[in-house]
Amino acid sequence: MTARILLTEPQGSPRQTLEQYRARGGYAALERARSEIEPSALIDLVEAAGLRGRGGAAFPTARKWRLAAAASADQKFVVANGGEHEPGSEKDKFLVANYPHAVLEGILLCGHATGASKGYLYLIEDMAPQIEAAEAALAELRDAGLLIFDIEIHRAPTTYVAGEETAAIDSIEGGPGKPKEKPPYPGESGVHGKPTTVNNVESLAHVPFIVREGADAYRAIGTAESPGTMLFTLGRAAKNPGVYELPFGTTYRELIEGCGGGTASGRAIRAVLPALSCGFLAAEHLDVPIAHETLRPLGSSPGCGGVSWIEEGDDVLARLSEIAQFFMDEQCGQCPPCRMETNQLVHVLKGVQAAKGPGYREQITKITDFARGKGRCSLIEMAAASIVSALDVFADDFAAAAGGA
Ligand SMILES: Cc1cc2nc3c(=O)[nH]c(=O)nc-3n(C[C@H](O)[C@H](O)[C@H](O)COP(=O)(O)O)c2cc1C
Ligand code: SF4
Repeated sequence: MTARILLTEPQGSPRQTLEQYRARGGYAALERARSEIEPSALIDLVEAAGLRGRGGAAFPTARKWRLAAAASADQKFVVANGGEHEPGSEKDKFLVANYPHAVLEGILLCGHATGASKGYLYLIEDMAPQIEAAEAALAELRDAGLLIFDIEIHRAPTTYVAGEETAAIDSIEGGPGKPKEKPPYPGESGVHGKPTTVNNVESLAHVPFIVREGADAYRAIGTAESPGTMLFTLGRAAKNPGVYELPFGTTYRELIEGCGGGTASGRAIRAVLPALSCGFLAAEHLDVPIAHETLRPLGSSPGCGGVSWIEEGDDVLARLSEIAQFFMDEQCGQCPPCRMETNQLVHVLKGVQAAKGPGYREQITKITDFARGKGRCSLIEMAAASIVSALDVFADDFAAAAGGA
């Protein structure tokens, strides 16, 4: 069931060395691209493979690259976003700590395609194992003469919002790491006003395979609209927590039971949360193939793959309050509608928990409808997704807690 594209077999060393990566075909894609593939043809290849971003929003990678490639500037940048700070998601930390060369080769390929002459590996200041692994991999690359342009490791502040792409640019420029107005998009004006391609580290790590094996080989894995594999994180609620690489089209049941060994408690799952910023999926959807096109009609998405769930016997309202509190604490305060929404969601959920009676559905709907699209970044939508979906998935729990709404 596990398709190994990015990841290798378990190995003695915790970090895949340059020698180990090269033994598996590593950097062959870069060497081929530099000698035989025009930048525009490389972007066509990524487009033909149907690669979508793995940072949560699933944006087509080639479209982003084309924007930066088309811009004329004396300098361009690539930012590999490894600022993973979403509770329940560990896959980017896992990838950078264990397989840094796949990410670095992806950065160099993106630079070739877009005309960038400098890369940033964007990590968080408290990610010691990842910083160490990336430094060691960069030193190997430099010694081997493969570092075709400089890649700097950036240590960002420890906040959730610093992972947003314009916040990442702000942090690299020496700012506090808060989102900026868009447009202009980073591809037009990013780091120091120069065209900048920001991609999630996992998105970039898929590129060497696509260049080495071809778009058809990539499309042979996954589904029609969601080709390839994705990294999923299972936390301690699973019997076997860990990061698992699976083809799109796998079901949550296969992921949780097949890889994760089921729930650690042995209790049944009532609903899955594909990632903290997504909508809940009721247990009846455990056998739906995981793909953008299958989860969208259900009001959800694969997100960044930090999978959690609600089990029989869990306090649903307490869990929702925790999620709402997280977004309230992490919003950066720049946009009044976001401050209002995240504060109000916490307040309404407290009212439900205190059995304050009916009216919560209308309140939550009004707050989230008002706030939608009014933030500088999509945290404003991410904070609403799980709570709005829970109104239907957990309608009975809401009614019982609120006191018979
Ligand atoms: C509040 C917030 C936090 C985010 N955190 C991350 C993050 O930690 N890592 C990441 O890759 N993308 C994160 N994103 C998404 C980025 O803005 C951006 O879409 C992504 O890095 C683009 O890469 P991709 O197209 O390869 O997915 C975040 C977005 C928001 C709104
Ligand atoms: S939407 Fe929220 S998190 Fe995003 S910039 Fe505005 S206040 Fe900050």
